Amino acid sequence: MIGDRPVRDGSARNLLRLTTVLVVAVVAGLSGCADDEPGPAELTFAFGPDESETLGPIIETFNETNEFDITVEWREMPRESDAYFAVLSDELQAGDSDIDVFGADVIWTGELAENGLVTDLTTRAREEYDPAQFVSAARLSASYRQRTYGIPWYTDAGVLLYRADLLADAGYDAPPGTWDELREMASTVMDATEVPAGFVFQGADYEGGVANLLEHIWSFGGRVLTTQASVAGSFGESVMAPNVIVINSARTAEGLDHARSLVEDGTAPREVTAFREVESDEVFAAGDAVFLRSWPLAVAIATAGDLEPDQVGAAALPVAREGDPAFSTLGGWNLMIADGTEDEAAAWEFIRYMAAEEQQRIRARDGAFLPTLEALYADESLAAEQPVLAVGREAVENARIRPVSPRYSEISPVLAAGFQAALLGEEDGATLAARLQRELEAVVGS
Ligand code: GLC
Repeated sequence: MIGDRPVRDGSARNLLRLTTVLVVAVVAGLSGCADDEPGPAELTFAFGPDESETLGPIIETFNETNEFDITVEWREMPRESDAYFAVLSDELQAGDSDIDVFGADVIWTGELAENGLVTDLTTRAREEYDPAQFVSAARLSASYRQRTYGIPWYTDAGVLLYRADLLADAGYDAPPGTWDELREMASTVMDATEVPAGFVFQGADYEGGVANLLEHIWSFGGRVLTTQASVAGSFGESVMAPNVIVINSARTAEGLDHARSLVEDGTAPREVTAFREVESDEVFAAGDAVFLRSWPLAVAIATAGDLEPDQVGAAALPVAREGDPAFSTLGGWNLMIADGTEDEAAAWEFIRYMAAEEQQRIRARDGAFLPTLEALYADESLAAEQPVLAVGREAVENARIRPVSPRYSEISPVLAAGFQAALLGEEDGATLAARLQRELEAVVGS
């Protein structure tokens, strides 16, 4: 019994305990210091190419002005999200990567977290930010199973860019609200002008195609996957059942047939089946298309090309039937720290800088990147300089996310190949929807 212990014993034990506590405290204090000291350090920041030419100068400014002797070198990764992910995840898995901090597509969070490839930033984020500072869709995209793995850098959602001048010349006073209106306007303008393409978008077999495919499926009421809440066992606990694939529906089939019909009737040139953002954005920027489905930053590309700002309008994507709610695919990029980096504190310092209002403002103004900080949407001078931000913000509010899954990189190629097959008319919507159902079930094992 504790009360019966000889006093001597008790004091020896207490002394030992006290010593242990002190040693632990000192060691923790020391390593705490070492850990929290952000520099000096040389960091590698991975991200794709940057048409806006804002990234290089922003990194340079950081290198010149940070007080911790941190130098960041930007390692340019593949442009396409899926190709970039393949390089990144292979390197991180192998444990031989030079990457310390990186821009991560919103669809990667689950897979990176589940495989232990990224640093859990929950505590740092909680100490640094009020969650309400961020646009909520962007904030949610950086977390997985209630832990935070990234800081929202810029957000994204599909929008429709249009040639405001050509529509006005043809007597239209507003952009199309429905796909049928888009079809009609495209053909009217193409008949009246030399503009060769009506509507361009991303139909190539890659991640961008998935974003486009989902917008067509959703706008006709279809879905890919649903997470079913159910009541488990006798404890009455509410748990999330595994993801259930529900892509095989008449609505999905309708969405797929509709996408194909845009190519079949000449609204979209057949080349869209090989277009990624880079090709479709360029065609529009060169003045060769009436409509473009892309991300808001395509406005900056268009106006840096042959078009004047007042020739380019931006609107929500068309819907299937008048009065339907608009849907876009949520995109965007978060800043993450590779698991096991030697310079976590320095990497965090760089993330804080990159995500800060000043840097986000530069990227929004000069590159039309949608900020993740709410405060920047209230900035009137920014809104006036970059009107697409308001349209983009609304699209983000109406956006849906791509499937959240640790197997996303296996789900995506099935959908991407399916979209291209639909556009090429290789299979009709119903046959394709049934095939996609089987293939996706094989991936997620439901
Ligand atoms: C944009 C989006 C990203 C998406 C990619 C597809 O970069 O922000 O989320 O995966 O386009 O090409």
